[in-house]
Amino acid sequence: MNFKDIFSPEEYLEEFGEFLETVEYSDRNPLNTEMFFMWCMVRTFKPRLFIESGTFRGYSANFICGAMACNDNESAFVTIGFDEDSCITFARRRLEKYPFATVVEGDSRIYIDKLTREERPTAFFIDGPKGKNMPPLFAAIRKKFDDILFIGVHDSEKRKYGSVNRKRVKQFYAPEFPIVFCDKTFQVCYQDMDERLIGKSELRSWKPFYFNGEKQECYGTETAYVLTKYPYKHPWIPRPLLRPYRWLICSALRLWL
Ligand SMILES: C[S@@+](CC[C@H](N)C(=O)[O-])C[C@H]1O[C@@H](n2cnc3c(N)ncnc32)[C@H](O)[C@@H]1O
Repeated sequence: MNFKDIFSPEEYLEEFGEFLETVEYSDRNPLNTEMFFMWCMVRTFKPRLFIESGTFRGYSANFICGAMACNDNESAFVTIGFDEDSCITFARRRLEKYPFATVVEGDSRIYIDKLTREERPTAFFIDGPKGKNMPPLFAAIRKKFDDILFIGVHDSEKRKYGSVNRKRVKQFYAPEFPIVFCDKTFQVCYQDMDERLIGKSELRSWKPFYFNGEKQECYGTETAYVLTKYPYKHPWIPRPLLRPYRWLICSALRLWL
């Protein structure tokens, strides 16, 4: 399965291009090609609620809110993050223009765990916590949300020495749902969007297919999308077995933390 089975990027190319011109750069951000993929997902699935974990300076939040504003469907956006270097103040200022957006300071795993059950069709973007700290967040999401449209997980590229995020996403979700990646098959088509990022801040040593000056297999960072609305991946696995399976993964990781 790839992105062509989900949306047609050309449909959103012009509106995204115009929006991209308005976005202020900040560091530790996903690539613009990843944000274009996310834009297409938000425009296609039209969530009524979007939850982001890992606010930092609100770069990704800005794009998600931009796409939600285009949907114009009375939806709400919540982004949760820690306040490093006053980033929460920066993000709040950046998102002021979106009345449907809320920036929450704190640990998303605790925030979601305290929510009452949510029935609105909801989409997610996880840009922190990473690696072994992610499955407890996955578990909290499964527990509280009845109608999950998709879950995007940043930094899920395949690196030379393996990606911990990619491994955790696959371990937790692959037995149940298809996972599609915003990877080079998509990113090389829209490479020009990332040109303005080359040479900036922590991306200084990045250019397509290079990382820390070393040639690599992947284009750059990638986002994994768990497609929770698509048919059950392995119908021969009895569904009731998946709950203890997920519980086991989380428990094993908790012991390891
Ligand atoms: C790569 S940055 C996010 C960048 C941001 N999405 C952007 O585009 O500007 C990752 C962030 O996730 C935050 N984070 C890590 N664990 C978290 C958790 N459990 N809850 C909320 N935020 C978390 C980190 O503090 C960090 O600010």
